[in-house]
Amino acid sequence: MNNLKGRNLLTLSEYTTDEIMYILEKAIELKKMQKEGTVHHYLQGKTLAMIFEKSSTRTRVSFEVGMQQLGGHALFLSRADIQLGRGETVPDTAKVLSRYVDGIMIRAHEHESVKELANNSDVPVINALTDDYHPCQALADLLTLYEVKGSLKGKKLAYVGDGNNVAHSLMIACAKTGVDCTVAVPMGYEPKQEIFDQAKVFAKMTGATIEVTHDPQTAVAGADAVYTDVWTSMGWEDETEVRLKAFAPYQVNAELMAYADKDAMFLHCLPAKRGEEVTAEVIDGPRSLVFEEAENRLHVQKALLVALMA
Ligand code: CP
Ligand code: NVA
Repeated sequence: MNNLKGRNLLTLSEYTTDEIMYILEKAIELKKMQKEGTVHHYLQGKTLAMIFEKSSTRTRVSFEVGMQQLGGHALFLSRADIQLGRGETVPDTAKVLSRYVDGIMIRAHEHESVKELANNSDVPVINALTDDYHPCQALADLLTLYEVKGSLKGKKLAYVGDGNNVAHSLMIACAKTGVDCTVAVPMGYEPKQEIFDQAKVFAKMTGATIEVTHDPQTAVAGADAVYTDVWTSMGWEDETEVRLKAFAPYQVNAELMAYADKDAMFLHCLPAKRGEEVTAEVIDGPRSLVFEEAENRLHVQKALLVALMA
C-alpha cells in the first residue's frame, strides 16, 4: 500500500521498511515498462523544480529524463541563476515554487536548507544530496543489490571510505531493510554519531547489524557488496592533499576485494577517481555494477516521484 502521497524524502529515516520496499517494487515495475516501451505517463501535466547548489550529472539527468518518461516536466534551477543566489530566502523560494510546481528536488550544501525548504513548501520536497545525506542514491543501491541477489535481508554490504553523506544514507537504508552494513573509515572521518546511533535503532527492528571500523579488511570479509565513494566530496576540495594521505590505506583494489564473498559486487555512486578510492581493475572489472547502479537512479527516482506526486 502506498502512504507516500504528498510526503517529503529528506533522509529515508522517515520511511518504514514497507515504504522502502514499495518504492523498490514500483521501480522494478516501471523499469520493465520502460524497457518494453509501455507508456507510463503517471505524472502527466506535473512539473518538478530541481534546485542545484552543487554539480551533478546523474541526479540532474535521471530526474529530468524520469519526469519526461512519466509524462511530466522538470525545470533545472541552478542556485546561481535564481534569486536564491542573490539572497532571497529559502522559505520565500519554497512558498513561490509551491504555487507553480508539483514537487521540488534540491541538492544543497547544508541539510538544514533542505529541511527549511520542506517546512515551507506545500508540495513534496526530495533531498538530492546534502553534506549529510544522499537518500536517492541509497535507494538505487538497494535496488541494485535486491535485483542481483534476489533479497535484502541478511545480505552484507561493506562501505570503505569517507563516513559522510553516502555512507550515512547507506547505513540508514541497510538498517531499514535488514542488510548488515559495516563502514570502514580512517580515523577522524567517522560517520556522525547521531546518524550511526539512529541506524542502530532501526537495525534492531530488522535484525541487521550496523558497524563502524577502521579496518577495511574486517569490513569487507564475506561481503556481498563492496562500496566506495570519492575521498574528496564536493565542497571539501581544500582538504584534497590531507585526504589523499589519510585515505590511501582504504583503496578498494583487487587485494581488498579478495576478502569479500566470491560473488561480491562492486558499487560506487559515481563520479569516481580511478587510482584513488578504487583501482581501474576493480571499477572496470567483471564484478563492478556501477553503471547498472547509475541506471537504477532513474528507475527508483521515477518510482519515488510517482509515489509522492501522482
Ligand atoms: N551519484 C550522484 O549523485 O551523481 P551526480 O553527482 O552526478 O548527480
Ligand atoms: N560524497 C560525494 C557524493 C557525490 C555523488 C559528494 O558529496 O561529493
